[in-house]
Amino acid sequence: EPPPLRSVMAKHFLVGTAIEPDSIDSPADAALLAAQFSSLTAENKMKPGTIGVAEGRYDFEPADKIIAFAHAHGMAVRGHTLVWHFQSGNWKEAPDWFFAGARDEPQYRDIVAARLRKYVTDVVTHFRGKVYAWDVVNEVISDNSNQVYREDSPWYRAFGKDYIAIAFRAARAADPDVKLYINEYNTDDPNKREKLLTVIRELRAEGVSIDGVGHQMHISVNRPPLANIKQALDDVAALGLENQVTELDVSLYADSGECWRNPHACLPDLGRSVPNDVMRAQALRYRAVFDVFEHEPSIKAVTFWGYSDKHTWLSSTPVSRTNLPLLFDADLRPKAAYWTIVDPAYQP
Ligand code: G3I
Repeated sequence: EPPPLRSVMAKHFLVGTAIEPDSIDSPADAALLAAQFSSLTAENKMKPGTIGVAEGRYDFEPADKIIAFAHAHGMAVRGHTLVWHFQSGNWKEAPDWFFAGARDEPQYRDIVAARLRKYVTDVVTHFRGKVYAWDVVNEVISDNSNQVYREDSPWYRAFGKDYIAIAFRAARAADPDVKLYINEYNTDDPNKREKLLTVIRELRAEGVSIDGVGHQMHISVNRPPLANIKQALDDVAALGLENQVTELDVSLYADSGECWRNPHACLPDLGRSVPNDVMRAQALRYRAVFDVFEHEPSIKAVTFWGYSDKHTWLSSTPVSRTNLPLLFDADLRPKAAYWTIVDPAYQP
C-alpha cells in the first residue's frame, strides 16, 4: 500500500481539501482528513457571508474550529475568501451592510471603502499567524468579451475596479507575512488568462503587493485541454508569482461550457450506477493533471473542493444530478482516482 497523499506529495506541494466543520465531528472523516491532507480550506465558513454578520460584528467560531483541528494535525490553513460578489437568494457573500447608504451622496464611496478596509483588516488580523495564504479576491474577472473586470458585482458598482487594490493593501497592512492570492475560475481559457495577466500587471503598476494566483480548476473528464492548464500556470510563474490549485474536482460529465448558461444543454443524469469506463476516465484525468502539477515548481499547494463524493457542490450545480468528482467514495473508500494519484503505476 502506498503512503498517504500528503506524504506522497510532500516533495512537490501541500495537498489540501475544502471542508465544512461537521466533518471534524465524524471520527471516520476526521481520521481520513488528518491522514491524507496537509492543508485545509473552509468550504464556506471563512467567507464574508458567514463571518461578516453585520458592520463590526463577526462570526469566527466555525472557522476557528477548523483551524484548531488543522493545527492539531500538522495541517496548514488557506483563507478563502475576503472579497466575493456572489449572491444566491438570501445568501450573499457580499452582505448588504457593506453597501448601505445613498449612492448619490458624495461620501458614499468613501464610506463603503472604509467598511471594506475595516472588514479586511479585522478578519486578516484575527487569523494572523494561523492562515498562511488568503484568497483576497475571488472571481473578479469578467466572462464577457468586452469587459476585463466583472461588472455585475456590488463591489464594482460601488467602486469600479478600485476595491481590489483596497482589499489587497488592507490585507498586506494587517499581515506582512501572509501570502496574498487572486482566485479565479477557467484560467485555462486564453481570453480569461489574458485578462488575469492584465489585472495582475495593473495591480503591480499601482504598487500593490500580490503573491500568487489561485486556479480553481473545476474541470471534467474531457475538458479543458492539458496544454491550456499548463499555459496558465506557466504564464503566472513567468511573472514571478506563485501558483496554487485551489478547488480541484473532476466532474463525470463531458458537458460543454453551455451547460452553465443553459441547464437544458447539460448532459442527462448518469443515475445511481455510473459506468466503469466513466470512473476510469476520471482516474486517468486526475493522473494527467497531477503529471502537469508535479512538473510545475511554482505550485505551492493543490486543494480539492471536497474529499468524499457524499458531499460536493457538483451534485446540485449547475443542475441537480449524480456527480462523483472526488477521491473517496461516499463511504470514504479510496477510488481509482485516488490510487492513480498516489501511485503513478496504478492501472485503473
Ligand atoms: O447554511 C446555509 C443556511 O443557513 C441558509 O439559510 C441556506 C439558504 O441558502 O443554505 C445554507 O447556505 C448555503 C451555503 O453554501 C452553506 O451550505 C448557501 O445557500 C450556498 O449558496 C452555499 O454554497 C457554497 C457556494 O460556494 C457559495 O458560497 C458552496 O457550498 C461552496 O461549495 C461554493 O464554493 C465555491 C467557492 O467558494 C468559489 N469557487 C466556486 C465554488 C463552487 O461554487
